[in-house]
Amino acid sequence: MRKKIIIGNWKMNNTLSESISFIQALKKNLENILQVDIAVCPSYISLNSVKEELSSSNIKVGAQNVYFEDKGAYTGEISAEMLKDIDIDYCIIGHSERRQYFKETDYDVNKKLIKLLEYEITPVVCVGENISQRESNTHFSIVKEQIVQALNNINSKHISSIVIAYEPIWAIGTGITATAEQAEEMCNYIRNVVSSLYNKEIADSIRIQYGGSVNSNNAREILMMPNIDGALVGGASLKEEFIDIVNSAI
Ligand code: 13P
Repeated sequence: MRKKIIIGNWKMNNTLSESISFIQALKKNLENILQVDIAVCPSYISLNSVKEELSSSNIKVGAQNVYFEDKGAYTGEISAEMLKDIDIDYCIIGHSERRQYFKETDYDVNKKLIKLLEYEITPVVCVGENISQRESNTHFSIVKEQIVQALNNINSKHISSIVIAYEPIWAIGTGITATAEQAEEMCNYIRNVVSSLYNKEIADSIRIQYGGSVNSNNAREILMMPNIDGALVGGASLKEEFIDIVNSAI
């Protein structure tokens, strides 16, 4: 039985003081929920303070990005070792916004994934098609390619510790959610791709989230689907609505 996992991706929102006051409200409301894994991903600036605020909490903390080199002259970048040093639990990689605005490639995603596994930080690997790819019916092959490339050279023993997030680009920040059936169809497809790369037992152990305009009204229907193990939430994770979304996963 896969435990559901709800992650809030705060993107480039919340100053340090906003982050702390919001997390205090979340902590109070979510402290008794142990049936669901919960995490928030603040900006780098707030990461350490949020982690300290949540040090003995059931709410885990993730980063929104990492660089795959260990250290050196990479101005502006953050290493996996730095994240591990402050006990970061998760790290999002391959988000479509990073692919689109910062030219992150499948090759980068694979190298980041390998580095995160080395430091025992759970990678949250984002995949998903854009609207023209869906309309031209190439969305399955696009997502398959993203998965195959991301998992290149990843040993089967690590697969169950990875989280995959299916985030169709046309549903991100648009208010247009994929229907629960569309989301389930792709998450099921992703599981089959993982099964063909490894085996069914491994595929059955990996957690696959849906992301894209998840809110407190649509979360429950999406999270009821058999192959959807959680949600990666953007806009609604900046509000107390996030509490209702987590409760929808119980
Ligand atoms: P929204 O929930 O704002 O659509 O964002 C989804 C997302 O990109 C989470 O990573």
